[in-house]
Amino acid sequence: MCGIFGIITDNEQVLGTTLVDAARRLAYRGYDSVGCATLTRDGTIDLRKDVGRLDDVSARLDLPAMRGSRGIAQLRWATFGAPSYANAQPHLDSDGDMVGAHNGNVVNNVQLREMFIREGLVVRGTNDGETCVHAVERHFDRNGGRMLEAIRAAYADLEGDYAFVITHRDDHRLFAIKKGSGLVAGIGDGFACVSSDLPSILPLTRRIVRIYDGEIVVLTPHALELYRVEDGAPIHREAEWYDGPVEVAEKEGYPHFMLKEIHQQPTVARELLHLLDRSPHADRFLEAIAACGERPVYLVGCGTSYHACLLGAYYFGQIAGRIAVPILGPQFIEQCGTAVGPDDVGVFVSQSGETKDILNAVKVMRRQGGRVLGVFNVIGSSLMHHSDVYLPLACGYEISVPATKTFVNQAVLFLYLAYRLAGRDVRPLHALPDLLARTLGESEPYARNVAAYLQHWNALNYLGYGVTHAIALEAALKLKEVTYTHCEGMLSSEFKHGPLSVVHDGYPVLFITAPGDEAMMINHVNEVTTRGGHAIAIAAEHPALRANVHDYVPVPVSERDLAPIALTIPAQLIAYHLSVARGTDPDFPRNLSKTLTVD
Ligand code: G6P
Repeated sequence: MCGIFGIITDNEQVLGTTLVDAARRLAYRGYDSVGCATLTRDGTIDLRKDVGRLDDVSARLDLPAMRGSRGIAQLRWATFGAPSYANAQPHLDSDGDMVGAHNGNVVNNVQLREMFIREGLVVRGTNDGETCVHAVERHFDRNGGRMLEAIRAAYADLEGDYAFVITHRDDHRLFAIKKGSGLVAGIGDGFACVSSDLPSILPLTRRIVRIYDGEIVVLTPHALELYRVEDGAPIHREAEWYDGPVEVAEKEGYPHFMLKEIHQQPTVARELLHLLDRSPHADRFLEAIAACGERPVYLVGCGTSYHACLLGAYYFGQIAGRIAVPILGPQFIEQCGTAVGPDDVGVFVSQSGETKDILNAVKVMRRQGGRVLGVFNVIGSSLMHHSDVYLPLACGYEISVPATKTFVNQAVLFLYLAYRLAGRDVRPLHALPDLLARTLGESEPYARNVAAYLQHWNALNYLGYGVTHAIALEAALKLKEVTYTHCEGMLSSEFKHGPLSVVHDGYPVLFITAPGDEAMMINHVNEVTTRGGHAIAIAAEHPALRANVHDYVPVPVSERDLAPIALTIPAQLIAYHLSVARGTDPDFPRNLSKTLTVD
């Protein structure tokens, strides 16, 4: 999704560096275009924006040099309107008196634009952020220039879920509104700011004010005022002191965030296990699952988080004898939306805690009276606010768009819950961090070799069996995300039911194999190799399996329950190295966004 940031200060100064720094911390949300606007005290608006990545646009347009006492920055992930200069944000109103930027989707964008054009407003692009600005402008022109009232009226016109920040050259305040998309404000010494996300505010101030749907925040350099959109009534909310860590977006010597985050996995797994051991939330979480008795538990996620749910369902079934239904967010609504009731429990899993497909599913579960258990990485996220009980993933900030460490900790969390549900001693799980560290060291050179083999292939398959099914899906998603190569993950026993026809001389098929499944996998390997396919095993050392494949990525020997988590690592490394070899940027793959706040 897009990211927005706005700041107002008590004196005119160079604001560009602050805007670019904030934008850098929001870069994971979108990188189709970048823009900044500043306003000096005399009301002059300097707007600089273009298609491209932050660093390129910043250097080309000299964003750090921008001066003013008010500033807005926006990073765009295109939904309405192709990435272009005209659609890049922030946007001006018709006569250039107002400037604003949004995050989210205005679903009646086309109808509103047509209306604005008919009414004679100057519409320059097709982006719904521009529609937000014109929607305010239209009411502002009619109500004699009252910003707050104009924003309230615009809210009634704009359908969808969004947040936007806007200001007028002659009104020395900054306004922002929240409806369904993330928004948080901060206040410091002589300034106030607002952003889609906390990490872009924390380096500036720790005095935070949370904003909820249907609220407008009015920022001046020394105060934040909140108003209810519905009736314009002021809301009193004290600022809170945020004392969590300020994650600095540094690569710490790694060439990419993705590689850094892959290497952080042993550490974050250790921290999560410690947290779970001590957390009263873990007990409450387990009690809620136990309370639904024999009913299935729904594990709801999207993308990588869905793959963690798939693995979680195996763990719940195999280890705890509990039926769990892994399900995609939108599918949960369509398939189970009317069938679930007050006795049901859903575990809603989302790294960002902002994925709209998940929040929609949460709403349905609430409507039906069921319990909402949340699992997320971003503290303060919408999912946290909407959960009855929650567990954080404790990974720290994940910057690379492809999820790596958050997937591993989602898997660790499900394994831990399954052990506890089964009444098993969780101490053996503390072997995991060390196992992950050894896997990183041992598999790295082999992963590079496999990436070199894959370099000349534009299609391939990842196959897993049983507990590694989910890992095969995740491995394929990771490779697709960062290399733009078609890669399908599936259950190895399914491959013969149709997909086998893709195999020809040298066609790469990677078999992710857990201890105990080697004999079954050897069958599936031979179905591929007898047809000319190139079989690569990712598994702990197993002579018979090795004898049947062309290449082998060995991982350390481990307990069967722990193995799928360790087996994720070589797949992440293969995706990473292939991405680097192909010259794509693994941290910010084209067309993707880390936080998808749209349907
Ligand atoms: C986006 C990202 C995926 C991610 C999915 C779910 O599509 O590109 O990498 O897995 O959202 O994100 P969540 O924050 O809910 O885990």
